Amino acid sequence: MRDPKWARWTLCAFMICHAALSAAPTAAGDDDPRIAELLAKMTLEEKVGQMNLRGFSSRSTQDPAILEGQVRSGQIGALINVMDRDAVDRLQRIAVEESRLGIPILFGRDVIHGLRTIFPIPLGQAATWNPELVERAARISALEASTFGVRWTFAPMVDLTRDPRWGRIAESPGEDPFLAERLAVAMVRGFQGDDLAAPDSLAACVKHFAAYGAAEGGRDYAAAHVPEAQLRNVYLRPFRAAIDAGAATLMTAFNEIDGVPATGHPRLLRDVLRGEWGFRGFVVSDWESVTEMIPHGFAADAADAGRLAAVAGVDLEMTSTAYADHLPGLVGRGLVPESVVDEAVANLLRIKLRLGLFDRPQRDAGRDDSLLSEPFLEAARETARQSAVLLRNDGVLPLSPEIRRLAVIGPMADAPHEQLGTWTFDGRREDSRTPLAALRERLGEDRVAYDPGLAVSRSRATGEPPFAYARAAALGADAVVIFAGEEAILSGEAHSRADLRLPGDQEALIEAVASTGKPTVLVVMSGRPNTLEAVYEDADALLVAWHPGTMAGPALADLLFGDASPSGRLPVTWPKSVGQVPIYYNHKNTGRPAPEELIAFDDIPVGAWQSSLSNTSHYLDLGAKPRFPFGFGLTYSTFEYADLEVTPKTIPRDGAVDVSATITNTGPRAATEVVQLYVRDPVARITRPVRELAGFERVTLGPGDSRRVTFRLRADDLAFHDGFGRFDVDPGEIRVWVGWNAEEGLEGSFEIHAAGTGP
Ligand code: NOJ
Repeated sequence: MRDPKWARWTLCAFMICHAALSAAPTAAGDDDPRIAELLAKMTLEEKVGQMNLRGFSSRSTQDPAILEGQVRSGQIGALINVMDRDAVDRLQRIAVEESRLGIPILFGRDVIHGLRTIFPIPLGQAATWNPELVERAARISALEASTFGVRWTFAPMVDLTRDPRWGRIAESPGEDPFLAERLAVAMVRGFQGDDLAAPDSLAACVKHFAAYGAAEGGRDYAAAHVPEAQLRNVYLRPFRAAIDAGAATLMTAFNEIDGVPATGHPRLLRDVLRGEWGFRGFVVSDWESVTEMIPHGFAADAADAGRLAAVAGVDLEMTSTAYADHLPGLVGRGLVPESVVDEAVANLLRIKLRLGLFDRPQRDAGRDDSLLSEPFLEAARETARQSAVLLRNDGVLPLSPEIRRLAVIGPMADAPHEQLGTWTFDGRREDSRTPLAALRERLGEDRVAYDPGLAVSRSRATGEPPFAYARAAALGADAVVIFAGEEAILSGEAHSRADLRLPGDQEALIEAVASTGKPTVLVVMSGRPNTLEAVYEDADALLVAWHPGTMAGPALADLLFGDASPSGRLPVTWPKSVGQVPIYYNHKNTGRPAPEELIAFDDIPVGAWQSSLSNTSHYLDLGAKPRFPFGFGLTYSTFEYADLEVTPKTIPRDGAVDVSATITNTGPRAATEVVQLYVRDPVARITRPVRELAGFERVTLGPGDSRRVTFRLRADDLAFHDGFGRFDVDPGEIRVWVGWNAEEGLEGSFEIHAAGTGP
């Protein structure tokens, strides 16, 4: 244990701040009276039992028998990863009927992008820019999960990231706070449904609080260094949106933020989350993140870690046992006030009550057969279809349904496990419909020639010459589709990569096949943006499908043959090279922004003067731009934007403008455009990003059709934190763009006038 003097000092500091915050009694006035009644009856040990989340690792065999005694004696409040329905029923019966106070257990599971029906990875869902669809995916996940007695999912993960090396980018909504806010709200609504007490609703758990996606160098769990203004203007925004949408629970992050581990962070957990945002749900640690404060160098031992977490405001400890082992003693020695424990237990009971667990503790058993139902699969197919982003098309897509013979190549073409992506504990490869199977079904076996080229994405070429079968298949076909990418295991938690290129010999495979001269489509199925410089021009079309889930095959076949036009847009900036990372669209301008045109690396004169190369912010060898900007995506039609209007031109601090433009489908097919609104505050009390997304709308138009799209933008929407405690708008000019990605669009502006200076 740390120096007791130090412990007493932090305790005093905490108590001063806690006293201010907890002017409200532990169980607040509007609470269910059962909270206060139960608290009055509970022993300290029973209270600490409620703060204990036990369970199994996804890797270990489940033997619920060992937990039964602990549940009976009230030592466990929640369980994770118990997915045997009989065990769930038995454990819940023991909790309710045999424990002294009959408090039900809360069963949790990582239901991240589906339970049995697997939807695209969250990054793919973000690429749909379609909150309604994302909400439906979460609702279906809840319907399936609740049949196992799961009433709590560890989602949505709203960690923004600017680093595709980070493996958890696959689970993230991408890099943009506005898009992430909309998706966070959609997921919370989908999981929690209209009524949290309904037996098919899950409590959402917004995670990982906070700045986990800012891990240094993209190495998972690494420290985040985030200044206050950036923390609030970027990383915290989707958390706030999820809390405002009613998210019942929140998980702390593994990382430290500027020296303080997120699991022992009173300023974030008490001042911001509860004090400023009014959060009334409960806070859970991440897996052993309480005791990980020891290797972080923040806690001296498990008792110290338990004290720090409890005092900071962590209500429930996930899987480590600092609370169970030490909290009663810490309270006994006056190192943790019992009011802290009472408050945590009240938060936990409040959510159990809101979930209806006291009134109806047993799982919803009537729907056990509803997994993978046709409507669920259809929703997964639609989500996968809308998540794919067309990055390049020389006209080869869509393929003609009359095609005589199609060559299907690549290690991801028939990889039922890999297409599911990360975090799919309950998804089964045997349910996956692969691209190869779907294309064979559509065209007939004899019109499809198949060769994987490489066994898995990391494989090395064999045979001499290499890829002879793949080339032969291509040569005998009218067109080729190569399914490349990354296996599921190459992204997700603790699965970061230092290199973003396609692994194994996939680049060589693509070159070998494309060099046959056959029309070639490259489909990339991956958990992150990969750098594709070596190959993306070899193919005539490039479609990014992420890890699309159970219905990957039918969804991709629909797009390849034009039954649907691609409508996904990038939720992250797509780099040319890992050396550009971090690269993101909403960056600052610098005092020396790069001009549009830069001298090519090879044209730099030998022996040139130091200052003759423009002295602007860019890389000599790669310039300042990414390969594809945030928001980018093509479709099978073309759209024109015209007649931008901003009205009125001047507004007061509490006013709003309408920003409108006319969008016309000028191509030959019906298609969907994602119309995007960006803003910039060009002069402010702290510098603001060059552009920020402030609105978007999916617009589906038939050939020749037009629509006027109008965004309402309030002056309030331009407010920002300056890092010195002020959240407000600066008067002056605001620039706006209505466009088709973060770099292109029609530009206009308006003025916000300071109070008393208006027209
Ligand atoms: C660790 C992960 O960081 C978190 O996201 C997940 O919910 C928990 N483990 C539980 O599996």
